[in-house]
Amino acid sequence: MIDPKTVKNKALVAWVDKISALTTPDKVQWCDGSKEEADALFKMMMDKGMCIKLNEQKRPGSYYFRSDPRDVARVESRTFICSRTKADAGPTNNWMDPVEMKEKLNGLFKGCMKGRTMYVIPFSMGPIGGPISQIGVEITDSPYVVVNMRIMARVSAKVLDELGEHGRFVPCLHSVGKPINSPEDDVAWPCDPDNTYIVHFPEERLIMSIGSGYGGNALLGKKCLSLRIASAMGKDEGWMAEHMLILGVKDPSGKKTYVTGAFPSACGKTNFAMLIAPKALQEKGWHISCVGDDIAWIKPAADGRLYAINPENGFFGVAPGTSMKTNPNAMLSCGKDTIFTNVALTDDGDVWWEGMTDEPPAHLKDWHGNDWTPASGTPAAHPNSRFTAPIVNCPCLDENFEALGGVPISAIVVGGRRPKGIPLVYEAFNWTHGVYLGAMMGSERTAAAEGKAGELRSDPMAMLPFCGYNMADYLGHLVKMGKNLSQTPRFYHVNWFRRDADNSFMWPGYGDNARVLAWIVRRQNGEAKARETAIGFMPNYEDLDFDGMEYAKEKFEELMTFDPQTVAAQPLSEDLYEQLPHSLKVEREALLERLS
Ligand code: GTP
Ligand code: SPV
Ligand code: MN
Repeated sequence: MIDPKTVKNKALVAWVDKISALTTPDKVQWCDGSKEEADALFKMMMDKGMCIKLNEQKRPGSYYFRSDPRDVARVESRTFICSRTKADAGPTNNWMDPVEMKEKLNGLFKGCMKGRTMYVIPFSMGPIGGPISQIGVEITDSPYVVVNMRIMARVSAKVLDELGEHGRFVPCLHSVGKPINSPEDDVAWPCDPDNTYIVHFPEERLIMSIGSGYGGNALLGKKCLSLRIASAMGKDEGWMAEHMLILGVKDPSGKKTYVTGAFPSACGKTNFAMLIAPKALQEKGWHISCVGDDIAWIKPAADGRLYAINPENGFFGVAPGTSMKTNPNAMLSCGKDTIFTNVALTDDGDVWWEGMTDEPPAHLKDWHGNDWTPASGTPAAHPNSRFTAPIVNCPCLDENFEALGGVPISAIVVGGRRPKGIPLVYEAFNWTHGVYLGAMMGSERTAAAEGKAGELRSDPMAMLPFCGYNMADYLGHLVKMGKNLSQTPRFYHVNWFRRDADNSFMWPGYGDNARVLAWIVRRQNGEAKARETAIGFMPNYEDLDFDGMEYAKEKFEELMTFDPQTVAAQPLSEDLYEQLPHSLKVEREALLERLS
C-alpha cells in the first residue's frame, strides 16, 4: 500500500480527489503492486466467493475466476474514440462528441463506487524509466482488475518516483458500474452490460471505461492505453503502436534476428511468439525466443533502424487450444502465479479447457459453475477464456525483453484466418506493398470480440478495434514510417488457416510455422531463394526446410496457390478506401495490373 500523503504529483492527487468525489467510494487504496497486497486482495475475494484458490501442488500461487456470462469479451460496439471531430475518429471507429460523451459518462460515474473500495494503480507500460515507456494510472473499483494489472503491467511505487512532481501520466478511469445499494448488489462478478462504455479521448490522452470487468475493457493499460491512446501518440510523435507479437530468432550461424507479427485477436500471436522449432531445425541451431505476444511499440533509433519494445509484463492469453502439444511454452507460462478466467475447474482444483488434453476429464465444473461431463455437449471453458500469466514465467523469454531501447526489427509478418484462396506465405515487394497487404488483411471472426464466429471481416493490420484515430491516416502514417530508414523491415503475409475440400487445415501450423520463420530469416540473410509472382515473392518447395516432416510436394504446391479473385478482393468499406493514402491505391492498381 502507498501512503497517499507521500504522493508528490499534484495533477495525480487532484485527479484522484476529483474522481473520489464523483464516484463516492467507501474508501480509497493506493496500490504498490506488492505480493502482500495481492495476497490480501485474493484472500478478501476468496472470502467473498469471487474466486477460488487453485490446488497449490498442481498450480502454485494461482486463482480461478468466473465472470458474469454477459461479460466475456471486448465489446467493440461499446468502444468509442471521442476525438474532437468525427472525421478524426475515422470511418471504422464509433464516435460521439467528446463534450456530450463526458456528460453522459459523468452521469454514469456519479456515485458508481458506492459501497466499494476505489483502487489507485500507478503503472508503467514498458520498463520503468525507459525512453519508450509510458506511465498510466488506473482508478478502478474492481479488485480483480488490481491483481490482473499487477501481472500485465509494471505496478510499483517506483512509478510515482519516476512521475515526480510534474510528470505526465495517462489517466485511466474504470468502474464495473455497479454501486452497492443493498447487499444483493455485492455479487461475485459485478458488471452492467446495458450501460457499458469504453471511451477514449485521444487528444486529451484520457480513458474512461464503465460497465465491464473483462480483459481489454477493464485492464486499461492493454488495448486502451497501449494501442488506442498510444497509436494517437505515435502519430503525433513519429512512432508506431501495433497489435503485434515480437520474437527473436537465433539462426545456425548464431545471429539473432527480431521479427514482429500482426495477427487479429485469437489468431495465433501467443502461439507464434513462443514457437518451439521442430527438432530437426533445433539440431541445426535454430532457436526462437519471445519478447512479447500482443503489443509492440516501435520507434526509429539513431542508427536508422526500427526498434520495438513489448510494453506489457504478462500474457493475457487465449486458453482453449493451448496444450503441451500446441504451445508448451504458454502451458509452462501459466503453470504458477497465474489468474484463470472462465476456464473449467477440475475435481482436484486445477483448470481445464477444450484442447488442453486429447481426452477430457470425466467430470468438471464448467465456466458457469455447473457440473459438466464429456456428454454435456457444451464447451466446458468459454471460447474466450484466458490466463493472466507473468512474462517471467515464459521458458523462452528473450534475453533482451527488457532492453530499454527495444530490439531491432528486421521483418514484419501479417495475416489472419483465411480458409480459402490465400497461400501459406509470400513476401511483399517493398514496405509500401507490405503496408498494403496489412491494410487489406482479413480474418474469420473469432470469439475474442462479440459477433458471429466464422464470417470474414476486414481487419487492417489487426488494428480495426484498436486504432485510436482515423484508420486511413493510420495507414498513411505506417507508409511514412518506412521512409528514410537505414534498414527497412520486409513484410510477409502468412496464412496458417487454409482449409481443404474436407474443411481440414492444410498446414499443421504451430511448431511447424518455424519452417516459414526460418525461410523469412534466411531471406533476410540473403540465403534463401524465392520466385517472383504477381502477389509477391514465394518459396519453392526446396526453399522451405521440411526436415523431419512429411509434407508432399504436390500438397505444398496446392497450399501455395492463390485465387486471383480472393487476392484482388478489396474488403475495406468504400468510405475507408476513398480516404486511403494515394500510395496504397497505387499498390492496388499495380496488383490488379499484375494479376491481369
Ligand atoms: P489475442 O490475445 O486475442 O490477441 O490472440 P492471439 O493472436 O495471441 O491468439 P493465440 O495465439 O492465443 O491463438 C488463439 C487460437 O489460435 C488458439 O485456439 C490456437 O490453438 C489457435 N492457433 C494458433 N496458432 C495456430 C496455428 O498455427 N494453426 C492453427 N490451426 N491454429 C492455431
Ligand atoms: C484481443 O482481443 O486482441 C486481446 C484480448 O488481446 S483483450 O485484452 O481482451 O482485448
Ligand atoms: Mn490482442
